[in-house]
Formats: sequence, C-alpha cells, structure tokens
Amino acid sequence: MSAPARRATPRSTGTVAVMTTHTVSLTGLRAVYGTGTRRVTALDGVTTGFATGTFTAVMGPSGSGKSTLLHCAAGLDRPTEGTVTIDGTRLDDLGEDELTRLRRDRIGFVFQAFNLVSTLTAAQNVELPLRLAGRRPPARDVVSALDAVGLADRAGHRPSELSGGEQQRVAVARALITRPAVVFADEPTGALDSAASRQVLRLLRALVDDHGQTVVMVTHDPAAAAYADRVLLLADGRVVDELEGGITAAVVAARIAERETAPAETAAESSW
Ligand SMILES: Nc1ncnc2c1ncn2[C@@H]1O[C@H](COP(=O)(O)OP(=O)(O)OP(=O)(O)O)[C@@H](O)[C@H]1O
Ligand SMILES: [Mg+2]
Repeated sequence: MSAPARRATPRSTGTVAVMTTHTVSLTGLRAVYGTGTRRVTALDGVTTGFATGTFTAVMGPSGSGKSTLLHCAAGLDRPTEGTVTIDGTRLDDLGEDELTRLRRDRIGFVFQAFNLVSTLTAAQNVELPLRLAGRRPPARDVVSALDAVGLADRAGHRPSELSGGEQQRVAVARALITRPAVVFADEPTGALDSAASRQVLRLLRALVDDHGQTVVMVTHDPAAAAYADRVLLLADGRVVDELEGGITAAVVAARIAERETAPAETAAESSW
C-alpha cells in the first residue's frame, strides 16, 4: 500500500463543514506494533469509509486487526501511518485535549474493555459522558436511555448487581445519551446469550434506523453481522472482502467458509 493520500481528505478548521457522506473515513491506515523480531503489522494499508447512517460489521480471524482498526478509527490509538477523518475532522490534526473532546462529543463506545465504573449506579454510568463534558442531563433523559435498553427499573443498581447482558445494555445506553455521530462496538455480544445479543443488536440497529447514527461493530458471529448493511472482512491487517446488501447469517457464514478453504490464502488455522 502506498503512502496515505493526504490531499484526498479535506482538512477541517473545526467550523467549516466538509462535504462528505462518510462519518468516518480511513485512508492508508497502517498500524505497526513493536520492533525487530517482535514487530507486528496489525493494519497493513486499510482505506475505507463508513457512510453516515449505516451499520457496518467488521469480521476476520483472530489477530486480523479488527480491534486495532476500531481503536484507530475511534481515536484511541494513533495509527503508524494514514489518516482517520471523523465528521470532517482529521484526527491527526488534533492535540490530545481536542481529541479527547471529539471522542467525548462525537463517538460512542461499546467496548468490553471500556466497561462500567463499578462504584457508580447504572444511571450514573449512563450520564457519565455528559458529566465529564460538564453537563448535567435531565433525569428523564437518563431514564429514557435506560428505558430504551429495557433497564429503567435497574437505574439504581451497580454493575456487580447486574447480569453481563444488562451491563452491556447499560454501556449501550451510555453510548446513546450523547447522540454520538458514530458508535464503535467491539464484540458487543461476545459474552451474551442469544436473547440478550438480539436485544443489543436491535438497539444498535435502531441507532441507525431511528436516529441516522453510524455504527461500526466487530463481531465473530454471522448472525450478529446479519444486522448490518455492510460486512468488511479483514485478514492480515487488510480488507480482503466486502459484502453489501442481502446480508444474512447464511450468506456471511458461506463467504467466511469460502475464504477459509481458498488456496494460498490466510493461514488455514485461522479462527473467526
Ligand atoms: N499492543 C500491542 N502490542 C503488540 N502487538 C499487538 C498489540 N495489540 C495488538 N497486537 C497484535 O496485532 C494484531 C492484531 O490485533 P487485534 O487485537 O487488532 O486483532 P483482532 O482482529 O481484534 O483479534 P481478536 O478477534 O482475537 O480480538 C495481532 O497479531 C496482535 O497480536
Ligand atoms: Mg479484537
């Protein structure tokens, strides 16, 4: 992959609107960890966009770079090369404080590693992003976010008093309350049973259908991917395939199986 095409993405001054239908654009993203024999190329030249008001599932074998892609796209990690543009703002133009503000105001996270604060109640966890922004949300907004995830009656519970699925739904409510432009979810249903998974996936789908937000979700599960408008398949840090329209669990599973049996492709032992 050649060097990132820096001219291709308009620069933002923070106030100038940039004509784009992509809430998130990635250009020539490379992410290299470590040096010498410990060097790992987690992303090897990813160029793609996530159109506004769409739901994308990112799939690929373990170690293919899915979480790295999400972390870079969400401004949690800086890529080694390439650019990330969110809502017309190039992240590499931002200092740490500006980046923190952009993450807080424009991005929602449903990451297993970014779990709830154990000492806060469900309601306090939900309002946390706004509190951190110095805003005090009306109680009814918090209740309605919890209601949207079916947990209005658990508002006063702490995470240890909630099931795994309930905690994940609180995390979704927390991602809802700021109405972020884009929600990144890394295996949001990985630890949930199928009923709880469906609830979380329907909520993510509703963000797109009812509010025009953009969702990017990493998943290993073809049934979860079936909620998306588009599926990106990664292997060895590259986008190797893409599905759009007519996405069903069977179609996704078949495409994955095709790749796994394709000759001279990624390692046969790759696990999705
Ligand atoms: N902080 C790090 N330091 C060194 N190598 C890393 C680091 N984070 C990830 N890697 C390596 O980068 C590659 C991509 O990792 P990544 O976490 O993005 O994979 P993934 O597709 O999310 O996998 P999984 O499905 O297992 O979560 C892997 O080979 C991993 O070992
Ligand atoms: Mg991962």
